[in-house]
Formats: sequence, C-alpha cells, structure tokens
Amino acid sequence: SRGLGVVYKRQIWESPRGICRPYKPATGSLQTTSTPADFEALAQTDLSGTTCVVLDILRATSSMITALANVAEQILPVATIEEALAAKAEHPEALLCGERDGLRITATQTGGTEFDLGNSPREYTAQMVAGKTLITTTTNGTRALRACVNANQTLVASFLNLTATTDHLRANPPANLVIVCGGTHEEAALEDSLAAGAIADALWDLYEPDADDSTQLARQLHMTMGNDLQAAMSHARNGRRLLSLPDLADDVAECVAEDIYSFSAELVEGKVSKLG
Ligand code: MLT
Repeated sequence: SRGLGVVYKRQIWESPRGICRPYKPATGSLQTTSTPADFEALAQTDLSGTTCVVLDILRATSSMITALANVAEQILPVATIEEALAAKAEHPEALLCGERDGLRITATQTGGTEFDLGNSPREYTAQMVAGKTLITTTTNGTRALRACVNANQTLVASFLNLTATTDHLRANPPANLVIVCGGTHEEAALEDSLAAGAIADALWDLYEPDADDSTQLARQLHMTMGNDLQAAMSHARNGRRLLSLPDLADDVAECVAEDIYSFSAELVEGKVSKLG
C-alpha cells in the first residue's frame, strides 16, 4: 500500500553501489561553490545558519595556516589593496602581505608602499610572523573569505590542516555546510576542488543524503586524483604557473603537504586566528 511504501522509503537507503543500508537521515546539507562568481552570489544570501569552510590551496589559505602555525597573532584578510592600506593606518605595527599576479605587491601598485610579504607559505616563518598581526589581500582567497563574513561560522582550511578541520566539523556538525573554493582567476581551481572533495569524503556519512552535485563532483575528483596531489598540481592552472616560476615552484609542494598541522582556524569579526 501507499502507506507501507512510505515506511519502506524511510527505513531503507540505497547507496550508489546498490547496497541497502538502514536509512540514515542527513545531519544537514552540504554544498560546494567552485568559482568566484559562486562565492559572490553566496555573499548575497542569508548565511546566519551556515558554516562556511574557505579553501584557496594555491596559496592564500595555505599561507594563512602556515602563518598561524608560526604563531602569527592574527590575520586580517581584506579584498583590495586600498582596504589593506586603510587597515595598515589603523594597525601601524602590522605586516602588509599578499599578492597580485602571484607576486608581492610593490610600491608602484600602491602609490608608494612596499608590502612586507608576498603570498608564499615559505615566507611566513616564525622569525617573520611570530606575535605579529598580518593584513593580507590576495586575488581570490581573501575575497572568498570576505564573502563569508556573515556566516554563522567561517573556517579557514588547507591540505595542511584538513583533518583538524574535518575533526572539528565532525564534532560539531553544522546543519548547513558550504565548502567555498577560491578558484583561479574567474574559474574553478582543480586544487581547491580536490581539497573540497577530501573534506566531503571525510564527512560523507553525515551529509551524503543531502550533498549537492558540485560536492559529488569534488568527491569523485578526490577519489580519482587525490592520492598524488603533487602530480595533480601539474594539471592545475595555478599549479602550472607556480611550477614554471623558479622562485615560487617550491610553494606547490608546501601547499599540498597533508595534515602537517593539528589546529583548525576561523574567521571571527574579520580576523583569522586559531580556533579555540
Ligand atoms: C589567490 O588568492 O588568488 C591565490 O592565493 C593566488 C596566489 O597563488 O598567490
């Protein structure tokens, strides 16, 4: 009967491989955004009930996590060079950090102020950043973070602290989780989708029934290319560019090293710091 059919659907959940397991309701919804246009659209929505995890593997969020590991006190991500200069006027002791076209921002681009650091994780040594406030603007990564300022919680993640991030999410599973990829130029970025897929895979049992197709795509990518991230980077647009620049090529391996750090990080009131 119709009634029995409803009961059957509630009790049995068919997995993609056709194995029937007891029905398990989703903990919540899981979405992935791939491009800058997606995160700009996300910023126009009500995020008060949403947790965002922001990824810009090459290289913004990897550099931020490295800076926090080397005990930078806090990081202020801003979208533009103008905003960075205004923040510097308020925090004269802070270091100015970031890139345009992958390179440290110079006096010619700012009307006279040289930035202290670029966007290479290798620059964010303890000697350089311990105890410091960093103001940073990058092409996509800091814009992605700014797009999430109104979220209930915004985590900052990378391969370097991926498991720490998914452990945090598993311990406190949000009802609405959005994985926000920084992308490259105005496109999706392979490396961000790979990290998004790794996060989705780690939380799959919680979110599978209500994961969107972008997340499914990212997870499939993780399952096919995720076992050799360094090799995958030679297919990524920003990966190829960085690998072709002798001064920046080593950044790629730094950014795809997995689970080097055991802390998660979050953006609170415009500042990125270690969580907890
Ligand atoms: C970005 O924010 O767009 C990236 O981190 C670019 C880069 O590789 O520096």
